[in-house]
Amino acid sequence: MKISISNDLAAVDALAVICFEAGDQPAADAEPAGQNGWLAELRASGEFTGKLYEAVTLYRPQGVSAKRLIVIGGGKGGTFSQIEMRRIAGVLVRLVRGKGVKSIALSLDEQYATPELAAAAVEGALLANWEPDRYKSDPKKDEKRIDSLAVVAGNAAALAKAIERGRTIAEGQNFARDLINEPGNKLTPAVLAEQARSMAAAQGLACEILDRDAMETLGMGALLGVAQGSTNPPFLIVLKYRPEKPAGSDHLALVGKGVTFDTGGVSIKSADGMEKMKYDMAGAAAAIGAMQVIAQLKPAIPITAYVPTVENAVGGNAQRPGDIVTTLSGKTVEVLNTDAEGRLILADALTYAKRNGATHIVDAATLTGAIAIALGHYNVGAFTNNQALLDKLLKAAGSAGEKMWQLPMDDEYKDYLKSVFADLPNIGGRYGGSITAAWFLKEFADPTPWVHLDIASTAWLDDPKPWLAKGPSGVGVRSFVELACAWT
Ligand code: BES
Ligand code: ZN
Ligand code: ZN
Repeated sequence: MKISISNDLAAVDALAVICFEAGDQPAADAEPAGQNGWLAELRASGEFTGKLYEAVTLYRPQGVSAKRLIVIGGGKGGTFSQIEMRRIAGVLVRLVRGKGVKSIALSLDEQYATPELAAAAVEGALLANWEPDRYKSDPKKDEKRIDSLAVVAGNAAALAKAIERGRTIAEGQNFARDLINEPGNKLTPAVLAEQARSMAAAQGLACEILDRDAMETLGMGALLGVAQGSTNPPFLIVLKYRPEKPAGSDHLALVGKGVTFDTGGVSIKSADGMEKMKYDMAGAAAAIGAMQVIAQLKPAIPITAYVPTVENAVGGNAQRPGDIVTTLSGKTVEVLNTDAEGRLILADALTYAKRNGATHIVDAATLTGAIAIALGHYNVGAFTNNQALLDKLLKAAGSAGEKMWQLPMDDEYKDYLKSVFADLPNIGGRYGGSITAAWFLKEFADPTPWVHLDIASTAWLDDPKPWLAKGPSGVGVRSFVELACAWT
């Protein structure tokens, strides 16, 4: 989708204006003031109240030169933020896509024409234009896409940079969604590594890919134990961004769980819904997508992404419950459940990140089903061994419009992680499953300041939203990028 700043509305297929609940805000004028008699009429009809995300299409109303005018509800103006703006732009795109509309314009009233809101509008439109239809053979699918979005605002020139930033971020998030959407037969660990490598080459990032031999030499027994049941070999993808002039001595590591398919292994998952487990590399996709954006926005802090990628398969050589593996850290782990594989591959990646100079680590992982029980589908679960780092990340997530909620890491929870035969088991008991998973990771992250994001319940939309397709959400990309750009 082409993004521009324009005031030439005659050519667009649909012009959108945001109007608020009557009495809360003056309505935005679509075109020169005084010509929006259509709004009064529309409100009087009762078909439009201004409720958030409500949308009505008018054809060539008086004083509007575009073919269609889409009136979208902004709710109560006082609570309007970039979260609503992102969704409003998304609602607009998904309302008109597939209806012969190729070019749209979104008019921003003066008070809403801020850089943050303009960037959010661009992000929302691009994210909404994405569909998980790569493997559909419908020759018309591309015709449904919107080709161009013009942001219409009085101070348009002042918004140019923000609009470009919004485009870059949304493209990174859509790249992550493309990767997540790939099924397990198409996106093996080798293919994920190749995708990361070509992105890095295109963006000027350094890229190193460790193969099985390299990981054996290093002693990544936990990662390799998970991988051994699959004929698709594992990799550890390392992507490096180095600023020209680093602002300090901090070095941020982004770590993402890259299980290209999770059958559960010998502790096999039930068949119902197992197809969704192609998304078990959503943390990896968030890290790789964020690196694509970071390479372009060029924050002042060095950042390295570490992406362990494996397939958790059932096979003659698959690891068994009871197996004991030696991690890169030297700690031994008793694998009580082969389905708790994410923490095993992350354990070695965290140790490797620390050894390679990370001063701060943030990981994203579709780690536990239990996080959906704890938080539902609206908040990412956040865990830390360092409150200052988590506070920084929560602030970044707030600015990026991604919801996160901190869960406790009290020492008592560690008592759930007891193994008779090794240093640690890879599962806790029945209770606090997301917390024991995080505690397991903490054993490898300590003492480096670290945040763990459990995105198992937020990385995939089981149902479409009016502003977003069903399928991968790309959660994490925007927070990672904002954390990097706002780092001080
Ligand atoms: N990839 C899953 C997490 C998951 C499970 C995401 C269900 C979405 C829905 C992870 O590898 C896993 O299987 N975790 C187990 C851990 C358990 C064995 C302690 C889980 O959550 O059931
Ligand atoms: Zn699993
Ligand atoms: Zn998994």
